[in-house]
Amino acid sequence: MLKEVMTSAHGLAINVLGRDRLEYVASNTMNVVTQALDPFIWSYDCQAKIIEIRQETDDTKTFVLLPNQHFKQATAGQHIELSVVTSANEAPTKRCYTLSEINKDTVSITVKHQANGKLSHWLHTQAKIGDSFKVSSPRGAFVYKQQEKILFISAGSGITPGFAMLNDLLQNQTPVDIEFYYRSRSLKQTIFQKALSLTGKVNFSYSELDDHSVVPSQLAAYEDIKQRSIYLCGPESFKNSVIKFLESIDYDFDQLTIEQFTMPELAASTIRKFDEDVNVFIKSQNVGFVIKAADCHQTILEAAEANGIEMENGCRTGMCGTCRTNLVSGSVSGNQLGKSIYPCSSYAASKELVLE
Ligand code: FES
Repeated sequence: MLKEVMTSAHGLAINVLGRDRLEYVASNTMNVVTQALDPFIWSYDCQAKIIEIRQETDDTKTFVLLPNQHFKQATAGQHIELSVVTSANEAPTKRCYTLSEINKDTVSITVKHQANGKLSHWLHTQAKIGDSFKVSSPRGAFVYKQQEKILFISAGSGITPGFAMLNDLLQNQTPVDIEFYYRSRSLKQTIFQKALSLTGKVNFSYSELDDHSVVPSQLAAYEDIKQRSIYLCGPESFKNSVIKFLESIDYDFDQLTIEQFTMPELAASTIRKFDEDVNVFIKSQNVGFVIKAADCHQTILEAAEANGIEMENGCRTGMCGTCRTNLVSGSVSGNQLGKSIYPCSSYAASKELVLE
């Protein structure tokens, strides 16, 4: 009962005062008493509490969250990291979830129950209205980039960013030509089926997500696919099958935005060992540099910087896309998407490398 009262009071405070004013009030009244009385508002941490839980499909639920005053405005397509203590005496479990809905005071995440996923299991089996936990502010570059023609390609629970972006574009009446492909196992397992149908924009496809045989023919049906900027989100194997198809039609990967929370682990064994130095040439800067054989463990970005050459970069973890460039010749291991490579998270795999 107390939890519910506090949750209503927090919602009211955020709605009436707004986050900026609440931040001002809370920071000026922060002391041990206020922190003990209400550790959600009188806190230095960005936190969110669950205010509603909705069942979407048999194994998927939406959690509507009310973040406290430290939360920054989200853009459709972004994700947040939850940090939840799921059992006493254990370190918090951290996991990123895309925001499926963004409202004035609340955001939602839509989570599929993974039997061996610690946090999704906790959310599905133990989380209750009023529970709160630490969250990050929204982040990620999987956001609409003002293109004129776009195609969303989603599968399974990878629908969440596309759903948020589609709603945002339609609500704001953004002048953009939208196509939307969504693959799920069956009608029953289609998340947001009703809402997506109502938009009249979505082509639904039903088959096992790892049935990759249907990808080429279904995507080839978009005759102008090469003119469209693509937003791709779904299970790894689905994304790989789409990328393979895009490679086969010589799609320009500069037009592809792919959702990635973390850089896939690069096994140490995939870093090529060289007996000789590697020569790298960056065409756009008309400069070359050498990666010493002993330094083959350096990413291409690290090696360039060690040679005094600047390359644009941001996250340095393969997620933001800032460093992306095209591979003109040679080969790399690590973070590569068709012709595009991410120097912050890829390594030389041939003795000569030419980058755009
Ligand atoms: S992807 Fe962010 S810096 Fe390389």
